[in-house]
Amino acid sequence: MKKNLLVTLLLIFSLGPVFSLRADEGMWLPQLLQAMNESEMKELGMKISAEDIYNINKSSLKDAIVSFGGYCTGEIISGEGLLLTNHHCGYSSIQSHSSVENDLLTEGFWAMSKEEEIPNSGLFVTFIVRIEDVTDQILEGIPYDAEEEKRQQLVRSRIEQIETNAVVGTHYEAKVKPFFYGNEYYMFVTETYKDVRLVGAPPSSIGKFGGDTDNWMFPRHAGDFSMFRVYSGPDGKPAEYSKDNIPLKPKYFLPISLKGIQPGDFTMVFGFPGRTEEYLTSFAVETLQNETNPNRIKIRDKKLSVLSEDMARDDEVRIKYSAKYASTANAWKKWIGQNKGLERLETIDQKRLLEKQFTDWANADPIREQRYADILPSFQEVYKERAKINLPNVYYREAFYGIEMMRLAARLNALTKIGLGTKEEKKALEKTKSYSEKYFKNYDFSTDKKLFVALMQMYLDNVDPSFYPDALKEGLSHHYNDLNKLADYIYQYSILSSEKKMDRFLDRFSEKKIKKLEEDEAFKIYRSFTEAYSRQIYPTLVDSQDEIGKLNREWLAGLREMMPEKRFYPDANSTLRLAYGQVKSYSPTDGVQYDYFTTLKGVMEKEDPSVDEFIVSQKLKDLYKAKDFGIYANEQGDLPVCFTATNHTTGGNSGSPILNAEGELIGLNFDRNWEGTMSDIQFDPVMCRNISVDIRYVLFVVDKFAGAGYLVDEMVLVKEKAGIVEN
Ligand code: ARG
Ligand code: ASP
Repeated sequence: MKKNLLVTLLLIFSLGPVFSLRADEGMWLPQLLQAMNESEMKELGMKISAEDIYNINKSSLKDAIVSFGGYCTGEIISGEGLLLTNHHCGYSSIQSHSSVENDLLTEGFWAMSKEEEIPNSGLFVTFIVRIEDVTDQILEGIPYDAEEEKRQQLVRSRIEQIETNAVVGTHYEAKVKPFFYGNEYYMFVTETYKDVRLVGAPPSSIGKFGGDTDNWMFPRHAGDFSMFRVYSGPDGKPAEYSKDNIPLKPKYFLPISLKGIQPGDFTMVFGFPGRTEEYLTSFAVETLQNETNPNRIKIRDKKLSVLSEDMARDDEVRIKYSAKYASTANAWKKWIGQNKGLERLETIDQKRLLEKQFTDWANADPIREQRYADILPSFQEVYKERAKINLPNVYYREAFYGIEMMRLAARLNALTKIGLGTKEEKKALEKTKSYSEKYFKNYDFSTDKKLFVALMQMYLDNVDPSFYPDALKEGLSHHYNDLNKLADYIYQYSILSSEKKMDRFLDRFSEKKIKKLEEDEAFKIYRSFTEAYSRQIYPTLVDSQDEIGKLNREWLAGLREMMPEKRFYPDANSTLRLAYGQVKSYSPTDGVQYDYFTTLKGVMEKEDPSVDEFIVSQKLKDLYKAKDFGIYANEQGDLPVCFTATNHTTGGNSGSPILNAEGELIGLNFDRNWEGTMSDIQFDPVMCRNISVDIRYVLFVVDKFAGAGYLVDEMVLVKEKAGIVEN
């Protein structure tokens, strides 16, 4: 008995770093909180109940949370459908209403009445109506060792049926998703509103203050928010945009706390995290850390240096490429931080240790041995197979598709696949035309040509010649094996090289045009690359993916059996999740301790009128000098701007509300710290922090800076600690 205890303790202890029961880690399913988390949340200081967060019989917090456009999170903050999300989430909407004469991105925008709000075609928000466990219905009667293909077929058809049945006679939609790699299935019934209007956005000098330099970093000083309003039809149901639509009457909206935050305060982040991979094996992390990340970082290093050189040289290029540069740099910087974090945590070694323990555990029992002993050797095998195409795949995605002309070629290629003269073709042609128009609006042909030369060179230098596509080899041999000469030729003569040529080409699109396209040098290279990809890379990718999917399912089943006491949370998969933690500072390196919050003083300290990212508007400076912060100042009379907490978040959590123990809004999540970006693979409570903009800064900007205080009047502000409610 004693010995057993010791063994158990040792096991728990040694597994600690990879798998531990810590409050900070995890993205939990809202309908399971009561069973899995509520008591711990209360111990940590939560004042509300799990039912206040998720309840399908009465309104609850979840009724205020939306997936914003399918890629971010937003929350409802008034009884009239007012919605808050990040500036970088509203960015493309704001940009689409901007022109040189009326630059909403740079200047900011505030509707001074509902009439001035701007519709956004294509933008939608999705509420969760209810979540159901459908695991039994999906997996019923499927034996553990069912043939994989049969199993998948059955699962697929059951999903389809369940999804259809769930929403007959309603305007809802239903989606069943796998969790724990298909050990569990949950159905999400949703309601989507399509009339979402822009209410306001701060100028970029506030919303994107610090730009790419500060991105993924703390101390942070960005007011990363924008505001929208959701409209419904006159009957309260979702409707396409119409003048006659009315502001949404939500089932619930978030009260806003002006009480401030203290270190150690309980916090929750409620939103739609996109993707994490916490249960990867050591084999997968090895490839990612030692090959995939270093190479994609290297490719983007190159791409960014080409772009920044041209952007520095030419103002027009700078404007055209600023958004592209930002998105290229965003993932690049994350991967760098991620690799550093994985190295620091020695994740691969920790994973190996866990795998060793798993193997010992499996081998200690004949039934387990039969079920689980093969899993890790099979993983090793399949990752070895996959490794053969990993590098060509990385270069295909990052280097080949890093050239913009190749993306345009992909569009044209899709067009040639649709039957001429059909209705679909007409639609596709229109779409291609508008794509092309937008494409050339932000395109510089000489910059892209430089990218072509630089990225193709990297491809040639790093990928085994057996993967080189024929057209690239031929093209090179026609041009003295000189990439520059090949690029000169393509960027001068290709149909894809200028808007004029593209317009002419798309005008009266015909069989003859397709023939002509097929002889185009750039297009030939594009096709040759994709052809080589589908022949040499794709099959291995798909086969290994299927195999890995199956192994992951078994691996997770085994891990959960091995650690029955451990609370497992499913990887993020763009479904609604709640993370909880506390307001907390951190130490990035030895001898350095960051505070848990920043103030407007830091904005002034960072100001640099000569650098775009650090411009501060006169108005903000005046308010700062006058210390005119109104009710939004903290106890010291300073204006809080951002703060850090220990909530486990990832991409897609941007715009998520960060809530206090009472379930009131205290800020908007928008980023993580650089030292913590490995949290998608391994969460480290010591180092991982989510970064939020303080709600008091948001309201200050709306009210004091933009003069749109009428919006604040719509909201419910909680100014005092419970018990002493003011006004
Ligand atoms: N790093 C954050 C995220 O992954 C914010 C990106 C937008 N902000 C920026 N300065 N680029 O999306
Ligand atoms: N900035 C990310 C987003 O846009 C959030 C993150 O990765 O932490 O969703």
